[in-house]
Amino acid sequence: MQERYIRTEKCPEVFYRKLGQGAPVLLIHGFPDDGNLWRRVMPLLSETCTVIVPDLPGTGKSIYSGGGISIEELADSMLSILHTERISKVVVAGHSMGGYIALAMAANCPEIMAGLSLVHSTSQADSAEKKQQREKVIRLIRNGGKDTFIKGMIPGLFAPHFQTKDPEGVAMQIGNSLKLASGTLTGFYEAMINRPERTFVLSEARFPVQFISGKEDSVVPFDITMKLSDLPSVSFVSVYEEVGHMSMLERPESLAADLEAFSHYCLDAALKTTL
Ligand code: MLT
Repeated sequence: MQERYIRTEKCPEVFYRKLGQGAPVLLIHGFPDDGNLWRRVMPLLSETCTVIVPDLPGTGKSIYSGGGISIEELADSMLSILHTERISKVVVAGHSMGGYIALAMAANCPEIMAGLSLVHSTSQADSAEKKQQREKVIRLIRNGGKDTFIKGMIPGLFAPHFQTKDPEGVAMQIGNSLKLASGTLTGFYEAMINRPERTFVLSEARFPVQFISGKEDSVVPFDITMKLSDLPSVSFVSVYEEVGHMSMLERPESLAADLEAFSHYCLDAALKTTL
């Protein structure tokens, strides 16, 4: 595995790992995580793909200079990695908040997209109620309630079946999330509140779009994903039973196989159109 750092205007160090050879795939983690989230998928997918896994600025080994960050700036930092790697066509898979970032990349730089995979994610903006919930959490964290928030929210990301079967897995996820600084958590929440609706990206997509959904996802419900999956001209849909919001931990083999099949389809299609 190669480990690299790049510098961008707002981020003195953006760290990413690169593994494997073949079709390039960028895996963007969500909230509240770092690139380590993909640890079970990366080795499987890298058997036939070049897999790039960043730590978003402010998480893992990536440093953020502070002062607020937007989903668009996070997307720019991902595009900088691709430019550094001289990648001109890529499949971008984003988990939840990572999907919001992938959609911003697709809106700003559609020519680089061979395919977009929304892994438990949505193109819809936050509802007024969701924004209020996030603002409440921001206040809680600013008042020293980071641990309360993390310990309360993480278990609910997993399906009940997984919580019973693998309590150590849930505990490990809580431990990983507790490593994130309070400022990173509130910064990401503000970025999510401010992100615009990007459903037009799906209806106008000139590249295939994959939707990965857990039947028991409480963050991005299955029925919303099904409605969105009607919009692109080419869609791939995978629905996992007894899975919540975290298929990369709950069902990593299935997710890796679905990402692999999708990535090869997209990059073969992209190659044909450039011949
Ligand atoms: C995530 O998993 O990235 C978050 O749950 C996304 C969100 O809060 O909208």
